[in-house]
Amino acid sequence: MTIKLKEQRVSEAQNFWKEEVVYQIYPKSFYDSDNDGIGDIKGITQKLDYLVDLGVTMLWICPIFTSPMVDNGYDIADYKGIQTEFGSMADLEELIAAAKAKNIKIILDLVVNHSSDEHAWFQTALADADSPYRDYYIFKAGKEGNPPNNWRSIFGGSVWEPVPNEENMFYFHTFDKRQPDLNWENPALRAEIYEMINWWLEKGIAGFRIDSITFIKKDQDYGDAPIDGSDGLGSVKHKTRNRPGIEQFLTELNAETFKKHECVSVGEAPGVTYEEFDQYIGEDGYFNMIFDFHYADIDVENGSEWFRQTNWQPQDLKELLFKSQMAIQASGWGANFLENHDQPRSLSKYITDKNYQNEIGAKALGALFFFLRGTPFIYQGQEIGMKNFQRETIEDFNDVSSIDNYHRSLMEGFSEGEAMNFVNQRSRDNGRTPFQWDASDNAGFNHSDQAWLKLSGDQTEINAAQQVNQADSVFAFYKKMIQLRNHSSACETLIYGQFAPIEASDAVIAYERIGDQTIQVFVNLSNQIEAIETSGEILLNNYSQLQERAGRYLLQPYQAVVIRKDPTHD
Ligand code: NOJ
Repeated sequence: MTIKLKEQRVSEAQNFWKEEVVYQIYPKSFYDSDNDGIGDIKGITQKLDYLVDLGVTMLWICPIFTSPMVDNGYDIADYKGIQTEFGSMADLEELIAAAKAKNIKIILDLVVNHSSDEHAWFQTALADADSPYRDYYIFKAGKEGNPPNNWRSIFGGSVWEPVPNEENMFYFHTFDKRQPDLNWENPALRAEIYEMINWWLEKGIAGFRIDSITFIKKDQDYGDAPIDGSDGLGSVKHKTRNRPGIEQFLTELNAETFKKHECVSVGEAPGVTYEEFDQYIGEDGYFNMIFDFHYADIDVENGSEWFRQTNWQPQDLKELLFKSQMAIQASGWGANFLENHDQPRSLSKYITDKNYQNEIGAKALGALFFFLRGTPFIYQGQEIGMKNFQRETIEDFNDVSSIDNYHRSLMEGFSEGEAMNFVNQRSRDNGRTPFQWDASDNAGFNHSDQAWLKLSGDQTEINAAQQVNQADSVFAFYKKMIQLRNHSSACETLIYGQFAPIEASDAVIAYERIGDQTIQVFVNLSNQIEAIETSGEILLNNYSQLQERAGRYLLQPYQAVVIRKDPTHD
């Protein structure tokens, strides 16, 4: 789709990727077509009609490449191969073609900060210190048998792993020890990566979401980081995330790959300051858009350390959200999201009153994020209001980072109960439970009793089958939002219009989009009644009515409304 602008009233340049509504698929948990307990590519193809019905226009599929699955595919052993449990290259080609026939584009996940330790490059580098592949990774001599420095990896422990059968020699990994970092300083490695990216783009995919890309430049002094934990280590982020010199790598990456194609590049770019947004997403930016994590991590002080919890209030979320929108607007384009495969479910995270962790809360959050300026990303299950799942024991978690956070919390002096609590709230497994297609025992994830990860267990209340034909379901609300943004007379404003905050009480997050129309969004993020001042045509409402008293509207707990200021349109 490219929307036809009525006349050039908006100053925003038109690009296909600004007009997409993206749906993120975590293939392992989406739909298991062959009943082995693991979702697969054919499963996605079989569910395309559901996605067409919802109205999304682009799919981001998390890694499906050959992998030992230590980090569920974010550890790639062959960039051009498909993991057998997900299917085959033929299955992927079939999916790309079937999706295309339904006007749905596909983007894949590009994981090039690191590979798997099972990648042939790494295996050769380990086997032969003189092989050219040694320099595809980062090997360093230790300090008398100890690691070269004190950096802590994102998934816990030192970033340095001793090389088997070599004395005082280590290799580097930002994430798990089975995810060795690629050495971007080496031009030969960079050339291989570019060749691989172009190969995929030529296959007919629409682009990439680019994983952990701000980690590719390491401070070359490899000096110690400030110690920030009782393990005596310092976060690797200080010395490897968005560090000086990265601009050369990212400029080259763009020039050698994305720029040569009509494609979209969405950077996962944690650690970029707002002052640097111009470089990342400006006119000549490295990417078309990036995810901004400043507000997504509102509940924890540091995205990867869940025991540092905050006591955030709606007003804080509002401030962070507006700051983010204004910064993105000043530079370029953003990728808006509430959830992804690394985040807890938004209903459980942002709706603090449990009584509203229901369809009211899910719709309120939907309206809050969906009309922000930028491309909306919906994570599987968000559109039916799936929630976190409380586990009783750490053995029930699959996610590497949940297990690490549990042990780190204990090491920092928290009790087992507290540690479990942190992990239950923040675990990446919350968003990874099998999709709830229907109310049956295995939630229609497949037709067996197998599932690689325990189901949430609330599929009798929350499932797609029930919601698709129900006029007031969360699913129906998402459909309406997509319809409004992409296919109504408000679409020019909702896609290309400017963003501006609206003054409101602390608990109400309110903003408007200004284009050929003015569309306002009001979301009461509290369980109290809140008054707002506005007038116009109500386009969306998560309650059946909007109460009015003395010329003001009264928003009920977690009520969200979308209002068109000038009702003469349409
Ligand atoms: C970010 C991905 O979203 C996450 O799932 C993964 O564990 C890390 N990058 C490492 O690839």
